[in-house]
This record gives sequence, C-alpha cells and structure tokens, in this order.
Amino acid sequence: MAVSVRDVAAAASVSVGTVSNVLNRPAKVAPATVERVLHAIEQLGFVRNDAARQLRAGRSRSIGLIVLDVRNPFFTDVARGAEDRAAEEGMTVLLGNSDENASREGSYLDLFQEQRVNGVLITPVAEDITRLERLQAGGTPVVLVDRHTEDDAFCSVAVDDVEGGHLAGAHLTAIGRRRIAFVGGPPSIRQVADRLLGARRAVDATPGATLEVIEMTALTVLEGRRAGEGIVSRAPDDRPDAIFAANDLLAVGLLQALVMSGDLRVPDDIALIGYDDIDFAAATVVPLSSVRQPASLIGYTAVDLLLRELGLADDGESAQERAVLFRPELVVRESTGG
Ligand code: RIB
Repeated sequence: MAVSVRDVAAAASVSVGTVSNVLNRPAKVAPATVERVLHAIEQLGFVRNDAARQLRAGRSRSIGLIVLDVRNPFFTDVARGAEDRAAEEGMTVLLGNSDENASREGSYLDLFQEQRVNGVLITPVAEDITRLERLQAGGTPVVLVDRHTEDDAFCSVAVDDVEGGHLAGAHLTAIGRRRIAFVGGPPSIRQVADRLLGARRAVDATPGATLEVIEMTALTVLEGRRAGEGIVSRAPDDRPDAIFAANDLLAVGLLQALVMSGDLRVPDDIALIGYDDIDFAAATVVPLSSVRQPASLIGYTAVDLLLRELGLADDGESAQERAVLFRPELVVRESTGG
C-alpha cells in the first residue's frame, strides 16, 4: 500500500500541514523539523505524487463543515461557498451545526472522524481547540473558519473583526452619535469580543462619546428583539442614540422592537448598524447599515486551503498563505442615515 502524507506526518510526529510546508515551503519550517520529516520520507519511501491518489483512495469524497448557527444566513453563505469549491474537485460537504454548544461540536467531530472525511472546516465554539489539535495530529487536517490564528498549526480564514468593529463604531460617531450601545452575545465568542474591542477603540477616540455593553444570551433575532424592548422601556434620556449590533440577526430583532414601539424612529432617535451584511439586511423595513463579510468567499477559500494542504487541488499548487484574513467593508443604508 502506497505511503501517504498522513503516514509521513505520523512518523515524524508533525501535522499534515507541516509535511506540506516541508515539501512546498521548507524555509517556513524549523530546520530540525525539516530534517525529521525528510528522514521519515526516506524511511517510509514516500512518493509525493502518490499522496493525492492515496488520499482519494483511502478517504471518503467528503469534507466536514461545522458552523455555529445554521439558521444564520452568514453561515449558510459560508457553506455555499465551501460547496462550490469542493464541487470543483468532485467532492461534497457534510454540514454540522454546533448551535454554539461545545458538546454538539464534539459529537460532529466524532461523526466526521468516523466518516473518514478528508478534512474538517470549523468555526470553533470555544477558545480551547485542543480537540482540533488532536484531530489534525491524527491525520485529519483542520481549517479554522471565521477564526483568525497566527499559529501555523492550522490554516485559517476570517475577516478582521477588530477592524470591522472599528468601522461600525467610527461610522456612528461620524454621524454625530455619542451615547452608543453595543448589543452582543457571550464574550466567549471571539467574533463578539473582537467587534466590541474595535468599536471601543473608535468611541474612546471620540471626545464625549460613551459605549454601553448590552450582553444577550445568543446572537439571534429573538434576543435582538428582547434587547430592543429593554431599550424602549427606558426613560428617553436613558436610551442610547445609536446601537451597534454584533450581527445582523440581532439588528433585525432590535429594529423590529424599536419600530413596533411606535414612538421611536430609526435613525432619527436611534441609529442602528449590524454586522455580516446578510441578504435580508437591505430588505428590512428600514434598510440596515452593516459591516460586510465576504461569507461565500470565506467558505470557498477555506476548502481551497484544505485541498492544497492535502495535495488534492487540480493545479497541484500548495497554499500561498495558511492564514487568510479578509478586510471588512462598511455598507451604509437608511438605518444610519445613508
Ligand atoms: O455566529 C456569530 C457571528 O459570527 C455571525 O453572525 C457571523 O458574524 C460570525 O462571524
């Protein structure tokens, strides 16, 4: 049976990605590691061209994708982009929904391991990714989606959420708002923490501006509506004059509550901006300003990185970068006076 890239990785006690780096970008790898991998290649008689055929023969034609919330159009757009790239290589994507629950995430990781998927794309629920490190060390490459990491152990694709939060905060201060509320979810979700950090930097740089944090239990329309009802119930002087919602689903719920109150106008009384720029954002009763993430491109790029790690990309090229970080884009609509 031909020796695979996974066999070499196991023999050298490194990840599949490191073997790929030794073969394609040895300058990025510590000399001692290069030596260890080359020794394993020689000992095992690894023949690179066999790797792709071997992987195809020994594995299913699928890739596992685990997202935080399948109801969120952002993630369905990510999944669609992933499917498009996988289909170019005749492969399929198995979709799992962790529902922001670490136990459900673990169950899907077990399932995909049993299904012998070629690799796993995941938006991790928590900061602790030791389970993913073990999965990759066992020969199943992992690509972090919507999570940036400088750790070369994993490929990753994300948007700079700190910059995105700053774009939102700076836009609200630029239109003259000074009592700003950030409506988000648990700070354990890295995307929420990074967006808040960016917004705080923008507010701190604006004399007289304040930032109130309203933490909800989840990033959903229902939680957004609950947050909006809370704001409506306040005395007028105690309300913010602008809201930055950590994603568009929260913003849609907030908008419903504010408009249904009957005595609050968006943006006149309260400006509102979301994040993701999902398709519905432009179609809300007051078209929603948002910070756009290229969701479909994130999914497409994540699969492309995985396929290159595995030597399965038809052009045979390895990945140029293992950590891809896209720039967010401010989209101004009526909800902030656009
Ligand atoms: O899942 C929470 C949020 O993180 C999504 O709305 C999307 O913005 C992702 O980046």
